[in-house]
Amino acid sequence: MNTNRLSKKLNDALNAQMTNEAHASQIYLSFGSWASEKGYDGIANFLFRHAEEERNHMMKFIEYILERGGKVKITAIAAPGPDPANVNDCFEKFLKAEIDNTNEIYKIVKLSFDEQDWATWNFMQWFVKEQIEEETLALNLMSKMKIAGGEHAKDDALYLIDKEVAGMDDAKSAEAATAANP
Ligand code: FEO
Repeated sequence: MNTNRLSKKLNDALNAQMTNEAHASQIYLSFGSWASEKGYDGIANFLFRHAEEERNHMMKFIEYILERGGKVKITAIAAPGPDPANVNDCFEKFLKAEIDNTNEIYKIVKLSFDEQDWATWNFMQWFVKEQIEEETLALNLMSKMKIAGGEHAKDDALYLIDKEVAGMDDAKSAEAATAANP
């Protein structure tokens, strides 16, 4: 008897998204390292915590696939790409990564809807909500950068941004994240 409650298409899509979350984690580890090297310790701390949050998202997909009797396939993770050119570029890339991720999440929501796999559709709603939070967070970073002068922000403004990002609530709450409650 087939005990896999996921269609091949959905199993593959969930696996691919699991790898996307791991890729996002690698991107934020890379950006966090860049920020730390540049002396932006608050931004680095925020990005390292966010990298951990993405790992928890990855685990959430693994747990769900296994729960449904599916097959988890761990693959290589693509390299994160070049370092940001500056803090503005770093936050822009953060926003872009989150929007790209939202679009991938939506594709799985659509697929689960088309297949009438309501368990997966329900599981994915957590990510739909999470992506609203993640995009809001990224947009807030962009707003702060805009006030600070965007890509032309001076050192004193960047110093203040770094301090502020270090104290952001999302950075603190990410610390307490677990796979069950990312
Ligand atoms: Fe897992 Fe930042 O989305």
